[in-house]
Formats: sequence, C-alpha cells, structure tokens
Amino acid sequence: MKNMCAVSVAGLMLVAMGLFWASDVGAAEKRMKLSSFDPQVKALLAKMTLEEKIGQMTQPDQESLADASDVENLSLGSLLSGGNSDPKAGNSLEAWTNLYDSYQKRAMKSRLGIPILYGVDGLHGHNNVLGAVIFPHNIGLGCTRNAALVEKISRITALEIRATGIQWTFAPCVAVPQDIRWGRTYEGFSDDPEIVKGLGAAAVRGLQGSDLSSPLAVLACAKHFVADGGTTYGTGTSPKKLLDQGDVKLDEATLRRIHLPGYPPALAEGVGTVMPSYTSWNGVKTSASKRLMTEILKNELGFEGFLISDYNAIDQIDKNYKKAIAISINAGMDMAMVTKQYRDFIKNLKELVDEGQVPMSRIDDAVTRILRVKFAMGLMDKNRSQLADRSLWSQFGSEAHRQVARQAVRESLVLLKNEKKVLPISKQAARIHVGGKNASNLGNQCGGWTIEWQGKSGEVTTGGTTILKAIEASVSPKTKVTYSLDGTGAEGASLGVLVVGEGPYAEMFGDAADLALDAKDMEAFRNMKKAGIPVVVVVISGRPMILGDVLEQADGVVAAWYPGTEGRGVSDVLFGDYKPTGKLSFNWPKTMEQVADKKGEYQFARGFGLRY
Ligand code: GLC
Repeated sequence: MKNMCAVSVAGLMLVAMGLFWASDVGAAEKRMKLSSFDPQVKALLAKMTLEEKIGQMTQPDQESLADASDVENLSLGSLLSGGNSDPKAGNSLEAWTNLYDSYQKRAMKSRLGIPILYGVDGLHGHNNVLGAVIFPHNIGLGCTRNAALVEKISRITALEIRATGIQWTFAPCVAVPQDIRWGRTYEGFSDDPEIVKGLGAAAVRGLQGSDLSSPLAVLACAKHFVADGGTTYGTGTSPKKLLDQGDVKLDEATLRRIHLPGYPPALAEGVGTVMPSYTSWNGVKTSASKRLMTEILKNELGFEGFLISDYNAIDQIDKNYKKAIAISINAGMDMAMVTKQYRDFIKNLKELVDEGQVPMSRIDDAVTRILRVKFAMGLMDKNRSQLADRSLWSQFGSEAHRQVARQAVRESLVLLKNEKKVLPISKQAARIHVGGKNASNLGNQCGGWTIEWQGKSGEVTTGGTTILKAIEASVSPKTKVTYSLDGTGAEGASLGVLVVGEGPYAEMFGDAADLALDAKDMEAFRNMKKAGIPVVVVVISGRPMILGDVLEQADGVVAAWYPGTEGRGVSDVLFGDYKPTGKLSFNWPKTMEQVADKKGEYQFARGFGLRY
C-alpha cells in the first residue's frame, strides 16, 4: 500500500510540473528575441568601465579563484564548476546551494551589481550533486527517438539545477559522433544529424522553457560548435592522441551536411549560449575561426546570444597567451572559460584594447551579447532575488523525477538478440543467476560526468538502483536470485543474466583503439555458459561494442548504454512489464576494421531493435 501511495504522489507531482510548464507552451510564440533587450543593454553598457566590460567576459573556475573577492572586485560575468570543482563542504544539495549563494551575494556587491551566471555540466541530471536523479546519457536517449521525453528530462534537470540556485548548464551536446572510438560518443544522441536535430532542440526547450525569465529556466549551451565528433583518427590530443580535440579534415559542404544540423533548431529554440569546440577544422582551431564563430554562426545563422569558450581552449591557439586571446576574441569569442589564469586574461585583454589590437567595438559586441542573456533571464531585475529558491529542494531527487528517469531507461534499451524467446524472463523462475562487472556497480551504470568528471566505479556515487537490485526487486518471493562477479556458480539456475561492457570515462580518457569486451567480461561469459543454462547479456557502455562470440553464443542480448541511477528501468524490460521499443541511434559495427573503414554491412544498422 505504501508503494501505491508513493507512486500516486509521484504521479500528482508530475502532473503539477507538467501544468506549470504547459502554461508556458503558448508563450513559445511570445519568446522575446535576445536583441529586443538591447535598449536596456545599451544603457548599462554606457555606464561600464573597460575593466568591468572585460570582467563580464571572464569565467574562472570557482575552485581557482585566488581570492573570492575577485568576484565583486573584477565584476566577473560568470563562474563555473568544472567536472571536479565541488564545494569544499562536499557534494550535498545544501553545500552546492550555499556555494552558489555565496558567490552571487558577492557579485551583487560589485559596483554595478551585475549578477553572475553560474555554469555546470548538467548533462544527464544535476550530475555533480549527491541525491540527484541521473538520467541515461544522450546515446541512450537517442534510442528512444522520443523528443517529448527528452524535453521532460531536461525540464526536470533544469528544476534540480535551479534547486541549487545555479542557472546555466553546458548542455545539450549536439555532436554527431562519426567514429565510436571517440571518448565522447555517449554525449551524442546519434551518428545521424537528423536524430540530433530534433532531440537537441527538445533539450533546449526543456532547459530554457519558452521564457528565459522563468525562475525555473536554465540557460542552455549548444556544444561543441562545430564538428566536435568529426575528427580524423590519430589527430587527437594526449594522452592517447586518437580522436578527442583532434582535426576535422572536411570541406565546408560536408561539415555543414553532417555536423551543423543540430545548431539551427537549437537557435530557433532561443538557445542563449554556444560553446566552440576544442577541435580544429583543417588545421585551424575552432576557437580561432572567424569563419565558423562569426561568419557562419553569428552572421549567417543569426545567433544573438554569446559564445563561451571551452575549458582553457584559448590557450591551445598560440603559445603566446596574449596573442591567443587577441585571435580568439577578434574571431568572435565572447566569454572565456579561463579557469585559473583569469587575472592574466583580464590584464592581457585590457592591454590588447589599449594597444588597438582588439577594437572596443568587439568588446562592446561581446558584452552586449552577455548582457542580453542576463536581462532575458531576469538577472537584472532588482525586484527579484537572484539567490537560490530553497523551496525547490522538496522536488530534488523526487520519486516523480525518478519515475521519468525509469521510463527513459526502459525506452533507451535496445533488444539485439532474443533466441528461443528467452526474453521476457519469468518472474516465477526458480533461480536467476546474475553476474558480470556491471551488474552491481552504480558508478559503472551511470558512466562519466557523474559526481566526478570521469565518473567513479563502485557504489561511491549518488544513490540509485543497480541492475542486480532491480532484478531482486522484480521477481516473485519464491524466486532465488544469486550473484557472482565472475559468472561462476550458475549451475542449476533457470537462466543467467550477465551485465558487461564499459566502466565510466569522460572526454579524451575515453578514446579507445579497441572496443571488444574485455577479458573479465569474456571470462565471466564463459563461466556462465559452462553452466549449460540460457544466458541473457546486458551491455552497459558509452557506445556500440564488438561482441564477437558473445553475440553468437548468448541467447539474449540487450544494449542498455549508461542508464543512470534508475536500474528498475532495465528490469522492467527484462521481465516484460514493458516491451522493448528502443531503436539503435548509431550503426553497430561487426569488427574494429569496420569501425575504422565503415565498409560492408553493419552487425546492426542504426534503427535496429527487436520486439517481443
Ligand atoms: C570540458 C568539456 C566541455 C565542458 C567544459 C566545462 O573540457 O569539453 O564539454 O562543458 O569543459 O566543464
């Protein structure tokens, strides 16, 4: 009865949240263009000193502040928390909220009292904060093909981010990954730009809503502009020098056809910021490219918000930092994510303006774009608190939010093999033996960008339900569920469920030359097969993997990607409470050779997904 009560409360909260946002639907037409704020922007700009203007263009990482008073003294425009830049008091909801409020109070004490935008990577929930709901990563959401669901997930993410006061997330990633050896493949919805278009726009709609001034709106950031997922193998940066931050060797027509499509729909949804990519285009750093940042994005596509650089990306343009700044700002960069060397950045940029190497008109254009967003978000409204609304804490990590995440997990699963109808599994089975390194490992199940930048294997992440726990919660009281990491001990079980794949990683640390299941997985598979029972394999991974014998010899295979905290979404499908509906969002290669040359028929083509 208690459970029934929880679900009905959850249902009511979902309806309430839906009504709140639905009231905004009609407002979509009324969304104000950012440039409509220019009269107020102009008036404020006229009062600003050069130092204050440059301060607005500067985004340190909060953990790198030499002195917290730099926030007000330098009139900083923004702070970020990079992947591991957590409150000293720890990762609790309260610690994050206090961190945000402390810096915002400082910003309000600056001469002109211009509030800061505080940015985080809320990529699959408010994933830095303990207790947050962690949603499937984008590769899984791509398999749902469900834009309405992606929008709802983004709304929930926005609400949980706002519960800490923070108002900016560096999402959605609208990459179109072309080589799954890239460590950021899972941040992309699909290798098909047509899928990316719709889901990227839905994410912006969900995050920003139709009115950026709503207290529940979170500023979105379409990234990484452009062709971050199109680099040539072997041109990547350290440590593996494979793909990440490498060179995109494409002509403009191909770059536009494959990698640009995610941006116009995001701009049409009013995305307020865009993040240029670390990558180069035919040898020119994107953060230095006037063609890309100004001529195409701002002039041709009409982007009215502002460009935020990637983390120290400007440094990569030239070993002479001052020269690098001049190149990037003159090419169209508006705000610099300069993390530690923010005082240097400010000093150098002021000199560049005084020396006439960066025209004041470029500074004014950048600050105009930044202030447009701040006015649109109600940050300049003196009658409105810019501190966190702590009443939102009651919804943070709520059951209602978890139900949506569980639905997303269900719809992200792709059934790749189902011999002899081994799936769905009977809840009345006498014994189910569970094994594999990802069966009882929440950190692996959530993937990178979870509590820590790289994620963290084991239980040491936020609360949630492992796949093993989900299976235990799904079966009848009479059914015995046993478990072994290495798959041994399955003899006599009705069937085995083996959960294999990848652990967590992020960015360049996920670049991989080989995507075969590792030796531990293969050994666990052999151990379970030896028991002579039907075996269902669940793959937890950030990309398609080379399954080899496992695909041949397993009875059932399910791709679950990085499902996040709500493991019950996996058991919902394994036991048939919900039928599998997922369709692959990437082509699934047979061999590593095919990953590289894309020749011949794929193991499974994009769009594949069995039903039962
Ligand atoms: C990282 C990523 C970018 C992220 C930024 C801030 O290096 O490239 O996606 O938003 O830095 O963490």
